[in-house]
Parts: sequence; structure tokens; C-alpha cells
Amino acid sequence: MALPYSEKVLDHFLHPHNVGKMKDADALATEGSPACGDMVKLYLKVDEKSRVIQDIKFESYGCASNIATGSVITELAKGKTLDEAKKINWKAANEELGGLPSVKVHCAVLAVDALRTAIENYEHSHGLNKEKIPTTEDIVMKRLSRVINPIAGLDVVKTGLVKEVRVGQGDVTVWVDLPEDHQFANNLRSEIIERIEPLWDVQRVTVTFTGA
Ligand code: FES
Repeated sequence: MALPYSEKVLDHFLHPHNVGKMKDADALATEGSPACGDMVKLYLKVDEKSRVIQDIKFESYGCASNIATGSVITELAKGKTLDEAKKINWKAANEELGGLPSVKVHCAVLAVDALRTAIENYEHSHGLNKEKIPTTEDIVMKRLSRVINPIAGLDVVKTGLVKEVRVGQGDVTVWVDLPEDHQFANNLRSEIIERIEPLWDVQRVTVTFTGA
């Protein structure tokens, strides 16, 4: 059965704004959905002085609703300061789109999560995060719990793929229970690094594969 999409959703899906990669991004974030296994990647270019989002792009590996919400939230965020953009939530995206079918709300949440994480990453890497909480194993695990295990479609912490994490003096080491030559090993390594490296006090992330 076809889902009852509004005209605006269809329009943003067929003609999405701000789609693509950004080579010189100041911050980026990838979010995956455990609900459906889809992914969205978002890039930010921010003016250092005014903290205004000058440019924003996204790539969606998700469904029509995800593409439409990516299009809408990037439009809403462009030209806003980081603080203003933080207030954009899935309800605003939903309203702007004239309502998503309720089974598709998680697609909007995914796009908004990517925006929030990209802003958070920018703040961390530019020393703008207000609370300078030192990175701990728990903080790393929390961030890793948003990385999807491509084999199981659930997160890498819950599925036991991440065996251990150690944090010390700017170094973070993550042990992953997968053979080094596994087809997903390289992807997983870059996703883990991408997620942990922006933390304000982290200088180096090492991912070690331990699987046989
Ligand atoms: Fe996965 Fe929409 S169903 S993002």
C-alpha cells in the first residue's frame, strides 16, 4: 500500500535541496537508524566569528522521508547560528513538510540527529563546548552506541562488537571483535574514528581488530 505522503514531502524527495558531499567541511556527522538500517551524513561550513552556518549539505542512504527531511532541515539551518540551529527538531521538519506518515517519524528524527551531532562535533573541535567534561570510557561507549554494526543492523556496543575501550591522555583505543581483513573493517574503523575524534580532548583514536 502506498504511504500517504504530502505534496511537499514528494517535492523535497524529488527535488532535494543541499544534497551532496562537502570537501572542506568544518564538521560532519553520520547517523544510522537501528529502526531501518538507513543512514544520513551531514556536513557543515561555519563562519568562525559569527558561528553562522554558511553552507550545509547532506547525503542520504535512506528512504523518501529521510531525503525530504534532510532537504528541509538543511534549508531551515542554513544562515542560522549554531545555537539557533540546535533548536530545529523533528516536529519543525514535520510541520514544514505538511506531516509525515507516523511510521516515518524516525526518518525525520534521524536527519535531525545528524544535524545535532554535526553541531556538537563542531563545538567540540573548536573548543566551544561549554562543559569541558574529560572524555571517559563511558562517554566513548555512549558515542559508539550510535554506530551501527553492519552485520547485525544494531549498534556495535549492544551486539558486543566493541570489546573494550581505553582512554588516556588524549588517546582513545577501541578493540573490535572482527578480523582485520573483514569486508566491513575499514568502514567500521572510519565510522568509529569519525565519531570519537571530534571530542574536544581527544588527539588520537586507534581501532584494533581482534577477531580471528
Ligand atoms: Fe529508514 Fe526512513 S525508513 S530512514
